[in-house]
Amino acid sequence: MLTSDFAMPTHPKPIVVIGAGGIVEEAHLPAYRKAGWPIHGIYDVQADKAQRLATAFGITHVYASMTELIAGAPSDTVFDIAVPASKLIGILNQLPQRANVLMQKPMGETLNDAKEIRRICEAKQFTASVNFQMKLIPSIIAAKHLIDQGTIGELHDMEIRMNIHHPWELWDFLFDLPRMEMLYHSIHYMDMITHFLGMPKRLYAKTFQHPKQMQLASTRSIIVFDYDKPIRAFVNTNHGHDFGLKHQDSFVKWEGTKGAIKATLGKNINFPKGEADRFEYFLSENGTNQWVEGNIRGAWYPDAFMATMADLQCAIENPAAPHVTSMKRAYDTMRLVEAAYLSNDSGGTTIPD
Ligand SMILES: NC(=O)c1ccc[n+]([C@@H]2O[C@H](COP(=O)([O-])OP(=O)(O)OC[C@H]3O[C@@H](n4cnc5c(N)ncnc54)[C@H](O)[C@@H]3O)[C@@H](O)[C@H]2O)c1
Repeated sequence: MLTSDFAMPTHPKPIVVIGAGGIVEEAHLPAYRKAGWPIHGIYDVQADKAQRLATAFGITHVYASMTELIAGAPSDTVFDIAVPASKLIGILNQLPQRANVLMQKPMGETLNDAKEIRRICEAKQFTASVNFQMKLIPSIIAAKHLIDQGTIGELHDMEIRMNIHHPWELWDFLFDLPRMEMLYHSIHYMDMITHFLGMPKRLYAKTFQHPKQMQLASTRSIIVFDYDKPIRAFVNTNHGHDFGLKHQDSFVKWEGTKGAIKATLGKNINFPKGEADRFEYFLSENGTNQWVEGNIRGAWYPDAFMATMADLQCAIENPAAPHVTSMKRAYDTMRLVEAAYLSNDSGGTTIPD
């Protein structure tokens, strides 16, 4: 009943990585190595970073420029782009017609960027994904499977809660951005809610600075999805909980008419070292009527990154594959982010006299 399996491509295509930063080292390359997929080459504007990862992961081609990379990449390459969002459009414009592309989130820094990225992808007939990998974490795959089978009945409540201490100093490009927490972090949670419940009718949001993290545009948010039905779905993040591990929280909880599921995402607690994941469920009908601990195979890092690349490669092999990480779905997530900032900017209801 509990499974974190996902479809794998039959004939994996060679991967060329653009950007040799933290996430590539920690997640992309370990994922592709674990899957046994061919990594053809790597490039970074900082050549020493590309060289270092090439040595560590046995990658044979280290390119010195985008021109060299495009000339050297095999015709069926998957271009795996992991650079700051502001650099995406410039790179996509250089890729060949009908390329296979996996780009890191966010899909640009604004909805206008996302529109331009979508235009380029369509004009150049790319098969493209955006790396919203959190919905493909093993425990989230397991929860989706249970919910799709009707195991917890009708899903009517979804909560994503992060009460953690995040070392923002690891990402210097995030400083001085006009949009930060919802665009770079809660974007994953918004994407995840729509993976389970679809697009909402409306959205309410407020994002907050933290007095000790005033160099960042915001680090705490509340985002409420309105489905015009008795469904409650919301994101509640606080990345400034610097009071030890005891009350750090990182979970996704689903409640249905017949049961509930809670997945603890340990990686966010005590980040970047991380704590163990947990998967618990409660089945009121045909179940034990108490919380039960489930054993889920795989870990967030690197399995979710393997699942994301697999989702794209399956879509390249078969256009009828689910392609849950598709650029089109990611564009909808960017619409949600834009709505969240518009809601934040428009302010709440003034309290009547
Ligand atoms: N999907 C996820 O869960 C996830 C997690 C972490 C980071 N990210 C995203 O991945 C991207 C990179 O994050 P990171 O943590 O690796 O950052 P990082 O700063 O460690 O690395 C970024 C790398 O990109 C390189 N770069 C910049 N412009 C380039 C260009 N034009 N061509 C080639 N290389 C270029 C930089 O030299 C740097 O090495 C960001 O957009 C971030 O939001 C996504």
